[in-house]
Amino acid sequence: MTSTEIIKKLFIAFSKRDEDEFYRLAEELIELEKRKKHNIVAKELKEALYTRGQINNHYKRYRPTLPIPRDNDSGFPLLEIKEYHFSWDQLILSEKNKYVLELIVNELKSSEILATYNLSPVRKVLFCGEPGTGKTFTAQVLSSVLQLPMVYVRFDAIISSYLGETATNLRKVFDFIKNGVWVVLFDEVDIIGKNRNDHHESGEIKRVVNNFLQMLDNFEGDSLLLAATNHPHILDPAVWRRFDEVINFELPNADERYQLLNLFLKPIKKEAEIDLTLLSTKTEGFTPSDLKTMCKEAMKHAIVSGRDKLSSIDLDFAYSRFVSRFAVRKDKESKL
Ligand SMILES: Nc1ncnc2c1ncn2[C@@H]1O[C@H](COP(=O)(O)OP(=O)(O)O)[C@@H](O)[C@H]1O
Ligand SMILES: [Mg+2]
Repeated sequence: MTSTEIIKKLFIAFSKRDEDEFYRLAEELIELEKRKKHNIVAKELKEALYTRGQINNHYKRYRPTLPIPRDNDSGFPLLEIKEYHFSWDQLILSEKNKYVLELIVNELKSSEILATYNLSPVRKVLFCGEPGTGKTFTAQVLSSVLQLPMVYVRFDAIISSYLGETATNLRKVFDFIKNGVWVVLFDEVDIIGKNRNDHHESGEIKRVVNNFLQMLDNFEGDSLLLAATNHPHILDPAVWRRFDEVINFELPNADERYQLLNLFLKPIKKEAEIDLTLLSTKTEGFTPSDLKTMCKEAMKHAIVSGRDKLSSIDLDFAYSRFVSRFAVRKDKESKL
């Protein structure tokens, strides 16, 4: 079809109030522009299609009537759509990781210019690191600064008890995300972090991983696809080669711990005696999430004691409680 024919059919679809047909034709028109290498036009059309009047919201709009795909067996939704409003300064990472993330954002924001040189931005990124190091949070920050809604996919929600249904679920998720521009987070895809040749794994898991990687390979679209795993070491090169970028979330160093303590204790006034530098050296091995929990406990301790200023008593209390909890956790981990 030529663009004139598509536009004519679009008008007919509009007069018939046939929304499905309208969206299908609009997408076809956008594809046509893309084939003609009119990338900027295609992008503007896409934005126009999914922007609903900008009512009180700076987010690019997704098609609101789009049904959320569900598992056939359990009926549970396979994904959630979320919007976030975080900023870069709420995220404390190593200089290197922050630099890579900023680069990803800049590339995505310059995708039209890059396209004119036949270059494409980073679109598929793998996050690895221990629980509590900020993988999920980083995805939320990216969604915020890119002003794109997040499609959140918990990997275990996709894995069905019925053989074969898992592949169908993956297909449904990938079909869904084609309908818009988003930050898509496949969270806790921990099975992909394991070596696929590990003989403990069942054939089914291998199939799921292969399936996922294949769909990732074939995905074309303007979304940013993120996958997060708690496995600090991705053993299998066949996995990480599929991604444009792999980011390792390491435990924060003393300087980063200082920044995190400062950030998490910002809501409360502090006695002059408080020494966050000392505390940052004492908290080696703490994840950012641990530090957050500890800071919340310290603040609560001060507030419920009727004080509006944080003192070293509160911090010492929260720190020692945390250290004992830490010991329990390490003990559990070593028994696993
Ligand atoms: N690097 C970080 N900088 C700032 N806050 C962090 C960071 N990492 C974790 N947090 C805080 O801890 C919470 C839990 O971290 P999360 O992103 O869920 O970790 P993960 O997904 O790696 O297990 C976050 O919501 C955030 O408030
Ligand atoms: Mg997480």
